[in-house]
Amino acid sequence: MATVTARAHPNIALVKYWGKRDPVLNLPAVGSISVTLSDMETETEVTLDPSAEADRFTLDGASAPAEAARVGRFLDRVRERAGIETHACVSSRNNFPTAAGLASSASGFAALTVAATRAAGLALDDRELSVLARLGSGSAPRSLFGGFVEMSAGRSTSGADAVARQLHPPRHWPLTVRVAITASGRKQVGSTEAMQLSERTSPFYGAWVERNAADLDEARAAIAHRDLERLARVTEASCLSMHAVALSSEPGLLFWNGTTVRVIHEVRAARARGLPVFFTIDAGPQVKVFSEAGTSFALEQVHGVEQVIEVGVGPGAEVV
Ligand code: DP6
Repeated sequence: MATVTARAHPNIALVKYWGKRDPVLNLPAVGSISVTLSDMETETEVTLDPSAEADRFTLDGASAPAEAARVGRFLDRVRERAGIETHACVSSRNNFPTAAGLASSASGFAALTVAATRAAGLALDDRELSVLARLGSGSAPRSLFGGFVEMSAGRSTSGADAVARQLHPPRHWPLTVRVAITASGRKQVGSTEAMQLSERTSPFYGAWVERNAADLDEARAAIAHRDLERLARVTEASCLSMHAVALSSEPGLLFWNGTTVRVIHEVRAARARGLPVFFTIDAGPQVKVFSEAGTSFALEQVHGVEQVIEVGVGPGAEVV
């Protein structure tokens, strides 16, 4: 029996991925740029067991039927690739709340890609790992790499060019990321379902896809020059545009609560006072606040904020 454990960290997109050009191969309609986080992590152990009659999956020690189906389909791709039929026992642990809008699917599928391919005896390069991780979740290839990462939408119908690559290692720009938890508990609508609803129904979806290339150029340049003001503008614009597309879907998708909005105003007021801070929000109510390392900025006092988790820029996925 081969057992391999891998660790990966969540990532937060500055330029958002929202929409698929091919739902079967899970090819993104837009490119994205993210920051991999330190401290928060998923650790996944994969054991290939020739005597097992089915795959088994546990998340934080408990069975997780919804995720198990997705994990099973992913393991089928790994087996296909390795030319084996052995079932696997997969146990995954997050040291942060799952499905609270903290991108546990990204770190989860990145860790699973690294552990399962290694356990199956495959030695894949970064590109091949990226292609495989994407089949698990569109944001997962970004968690394979540390620091600042770009995921390309690609053009090929096979998806061979829809891959992630590192733009800069973590030491390039040691930013601080504060995650303001404004509601715990699982989210109502998953990202997959939500972005497909937007594609089908939002009248702004076309404009969203069209602005993507310019957003990517702007974010890449801002990061290369460590220009926080410039990165703040493009990150908040990408985030608010994504939410505008979500809101204009039918039925409208509103991921925010009142506290989410209070934190947005707090961040914008602080930046107007000259503090180098900006926000982004994924398909959930939590707000992620970026700043230059060493900037003190308390969010705990904002009414409704339950908890603030402070992390930095982290490394890529690895076997432990
Ligand atoms: C709002 O990667 O979870 O976090 O590919 O369907 O698994 P699937 O979607 P997922 O979507 C992430 C959406 C987002 C923005 C982002 O991380 O870029």
